[in-house]
Amino acid sequence: MAQRLRSRRLRTAVLAVAATAALVTGVFVSAGTSQAATSGPCDIYANGGTPCVAAHSTTRALYGSYSGPLYQVRRASDNTTKDIAPVSAGSYANAATQDSFCANTSCVITIIYDQTGRNNRLTQAPPGGFNGPAAGGYDNLANATAAPVTIGGHKVYGVFVAPGTGYRNNNTNGIATGDQPEGMYAIFDGTHYNGGCCFDYGNAERNSRDNGNGTMEAIYFGNIKVWGYGAGNGPWIMADLENGLYSGVNAGYNAGDPSISNRFVTAIIKGEPNHWSIRGGNAQSGNLSTFYNGARPNVAGYNPMKKEGAIILGIGGDNSNGSAGTFYEGVMTSGYPSDATENSVQANIVAANYNTSGQGTGTPLTVGSTISLRATTACCTTRYINHSGSAVNTAVVSSSSSATDKANASWIVRAGLGNSSCYSFESKNTSGQYLRHQNYQISLQSNDGSSLFAADATFCSEGGKNGQGNSFRSVNFSDRYIRHYSNLLYIASNGGTNTWDSANLWSDDVSWVVTAPWTP
Ligand code: AHR
Repeated sequence: MAQRLRSRRLRTAVLAVAATAALVTGVFVSAGTSQAATSGPCDIYANGGTPCVAAHSTTRALYGSYSGPLYQVRRASDNTTKDIAPVSAGSYANAATQDSFCANTSCVITIIYDQTGRNNRLTQAPPGGFNGPAAGGYDNLANATAAPVTIGGHKVYGVFVAPGTGYRNNNTNGIATGDQPEGMYAIFDGTHYNGGCCFDYGNAERNSRDNGNGTMEAIYFGNIKVWGYGAGNGPWIMADLENGLYSGVNAGYNAGDPSISNRFVTAIIKGEPNHWSIRGGNAQSGNLSTFYNGARPNVAGYNPMKKEGAIILGIGGDNSNGSAGTFYEGVMTSGYPSDATENSVQANIVAANYNTSGQGTGTPLTVGSTISLRATTACCTTRYINHSGSAVNTAVVSSSSSATDKANASWIVRAGLGNSSCYSFESKNTSGQYLRHQNYQISLQSNDGSSLFAADATFCSEGGKNGQGNSFRSVNFSDRYIRHYSNLLYIASNGGTNTWDSANLWSDDVSWVVTAPWTP
C-alpha cells in the first residue's frame, strides 16, 4: 500500500513537472496580450491525477478548452439576465458584454457557473442556521461591478462580498464527503477582509446548518480571532473545519501561519485522512509556501472528517454572513493534490497576470517620504488635499501660498496602519494625526491605537482610475476610494447612494497626482 502510494506520488510529481514545462512554453504569454491559455489550472490538476470537480471564476476559463459561460449577471432595470463567457476558449472573461448589458443600470452576479461539467454552480445562498438579509432569509448577491481588475491587461470583474453576501450549492456532484481526500485553491483580494464569520470557499454542510466538528473543509480568509489565528495581525489563510477556523494543529494560535495581504493572494487548503495543509502565496509573483502540513487538529471531532460536500462562497457553513472579501477564481479537486501540482497551478496563476487596472499601480509611494496630492478633475487641477485643523478638503496651493498652507497640503507616507501593503497619510505639520474616514467623510484625527482607526486610516494605492496618477482604495470599504466632491474629501463608490458617490466625474475625482511636497 505504502509502495503504491509512493509510486502514485512519483507519477503525480512527474506529470506536474511536465505540466509546468508545458506552461512555461505556452500560457498567457505576456501582459497585455489576448492570447488564450493552452493549459488552465484544471488541466494541471487533471494531469496530476487530482481532477477538478468544481471550477468557479468570473475572470477567466480554468481549462484551456473551456468556452462556456463563466457567470451570469442580472440587471436592475428590467430584471433580465446575461451570461458572460470567455472571449475565446481558455481565455479571460468578456467584461465588455457585461459593461454594455449593465450600462445605465446596476447588475448583480446571479450564477457562478461550474466549468467542470458537473453543474456545481454557485447561486444565492439560502437561509440556514442564520438568515441572510435578502427576501426569504437568502443572502445578498454581489454587485457585479464592485471588484474590477485586469487579467493579462484586460478588464474583468471579481465577486465582491460585502457582509450579507453569499453563494452556495447544497446539491453537488463529485465533491468529497466523509473523510475523502480533496484539495482547493482560491484567489482573493488580500486587502479586502474583515473579522466577521466567515469568508470561506469550499466544502460545507448540505443543510446550511452547523452539523458539528469536521462537517466542513473550506478555505477561510480574514482576521477573525475567535477560533484560530496565526502570526501578526492577519489576515490569515485558515481552514474552516466547522466550529473552528484552524491555522495549524492547535485551536487558537499557530505561529507557522503568517499574515498574508498581497493585493492578490493564492490560498490553498487540502485534506486527506488525518492529514491536511495550508499553503499560500502572492498570486502576482513567486512561489507558494506551506504554512501547515500535518495531522488533523488536536481537538475532538476532526479525525475522521465528516465532510458533507456542499460548496460555499463568502459565508460560513451555517450561513453566518458577517464577513467580507473578494473572490476571483477557485477550484475543488477530487483527491489530495501534490505540492508539485499546486506549484504548477501557481505558475499558471502568475502567468495569467492579475493586476489592479490598466494603469498598473500608479506612482510608487515610498514609506517615510513626504508628498502632496493634486486633484486631476478639470475644475481643480491646482487644488491639493489639505487640512484646516481636523477638516480635510482640497485647496489651491501655489508657490506664493503661505508656509502654513503649504504644510497643510503635505503628507508623510506611512506603512498602512491597518495593512502594511497599503498606506496611511500622516499630516506633515500635525504629528500623529492621519487622514481617516468616518461615516464616509475624511478628516484629520489622532491615532487612538484602535484597530478601527487603523483600518479607517489605511488606503491601498492603485493606478489612477482616469489614467492619471493614483487612486486610493479604502482598506475596509473596498469599493470606495478617496474622492473630492464639492471640495470636501470622502471615500466614495462609483454610483453609490450618497451624493458624493455620484458617477459623474467619479474617475477624475478619485485620481490624484503624487507631487513633490509643498513642505519637504
Ligand atoms: O467554523 C467556523 C464557523 O462556525 C462556521 O463557518 C460556521 O458554520 C460556524 O458558525
